Amino acid sequence: MPKDQTDRPLAPRTRMVHAGTWRSAHGELSEALFLTQAFAYPDAEAAEARFKGEDEGFIYARYGNPTVRMFEERIAALEGAEDAFATASGMAAVNAALFSQVKAGDHVVAARALFGSCLYIVETLLPRFGVEVTLVDGTDLAQWRAAMRPETVAVFLETPSNPTLELIDLAAVAEIAHGSGARVVVDNVFATPVFQRPLELGADVVIYSATKHIDGQGRCLGGVVLGRKKFIREVLEPYLKHTGGAMSPFNAWVMLKGLETLDLRARAMAAGAAEIADRLAAHQAVARVLYPGRVDHPQAALAARQMETGGTMVAFDLGSKAAAFRFMNALGLILISNNLGDAKSIITHPATTTHQRLSEEARAALGIGPGLLRLSVGLEAAEDLIADIEGALAAL
Ligand SMILES: Cc1ncc(COP(=O)(O)O)c(C=O)c1O
Repeated sequence: MPKDQTDRPLAPRTRMVHAGTWRSAHGELSEALFLTQAFAYPDAEAAEARFKGEDEGFIYARYGNPTVRMFEERIAALEGAEDAFATASGMAAVNAALFSQVKAGDHVVAARALFGSCLYIVETLLPRFGVEVTLVDGTDLAQWRAAMRPETVAVFLETPSNPTLELIDLAAVAEIAHGSGARVVVDNVFATPVFQRPLELGADVVIYSATKHIDGQGRCLGGVVLGRKKFIREVLEPYLKHTGGAMSPFNAWVMLKGLETLDLRARAMAAGAAEIADRLAAHQAVARVLYPGRVDHPQAALAARQMETGGTMVAFDLGSKAAAFRFMNALGLILISNNLGDAKSIITHPATTTHQRLSEEARAALGIGPGLLRLSVGLEAAEDLIADIEGALAAL
């Protein structure tokens, strides 16, 4: 990575533009897309040395690829991680980060407020392979403490959570987990690497669905796992290498270019989200607004401590499914979809889509009522989004 003339550490925004760039003999300015599955060796001895690990070059795109490696190095530099492994999707990252480190008889503690597919992995899949799982209310530190056992190998959480934007105290949970020798695995999708750095707060492993803010323009699926070199190379890589969850070079190239503008985009989206959250909170038709950047968020002090802004997501309650559906159907600019982190603003009704699989009681326990809506704020002008939202609220 280029350095400035004083040798001081470069700002994250600068690292996102330059870190991890490898130039070929052509000296291309923009990062090259190495669309190749395999690599040719100069001779048989070179092939043998590569397979023996005596030479660090590439072997096969399921193991690694130069464009994918550029993406991994750039995001590792941003996150302050020793190493990273990119995956085909966010769920491939979650799957690999958890399954690569457990065996039958181990125990995992996870926060209950998780994205639906993450909950499926911890609640249904891990126990099928003899891994015991305890689900806790992530906001209650006493529950984390009580759940830890000598055989607990990992704790898993997401903060802010999807979709209720509940926060978990990363530093406190890391202290509890490390007291029992367990690794802390954090899904940092909602916060983005711009606004929250779990590794600095004590986490051991960070996961992203790069599909969301990192791509940021709704094109490709991708994911990444970040952490210490020893974990990434000795625990995660053997699992991913042999099970096939690698990121495609094309997707890595899209994500790599996405990182260059991530800081700008995330900040613009968060500024819009903060403005929209305030306008929603002032509206009589809105029963409740949940936004980590507002002083009325139940964990506002924690938000100020561990997040740089309130983020790009806003949750709000219109009281009933009928009101929520009427509101969604009256929107013109904001699109109905289950995605998030996109340049286009997106509205989601979690109870009937992302969290439909859960029972009504399970949803109620997570605070996902029939009137709850999740808004992913995009890059449109805030005044246009506010006009769309106020027009749809008037239709109620
Ligand atoms: C918090 C969270 N984690 C993980 C994922 C999974 O990501 P992907 O869709 O890229 O597999 C999502 C996607 O919706 C998510 O919201």
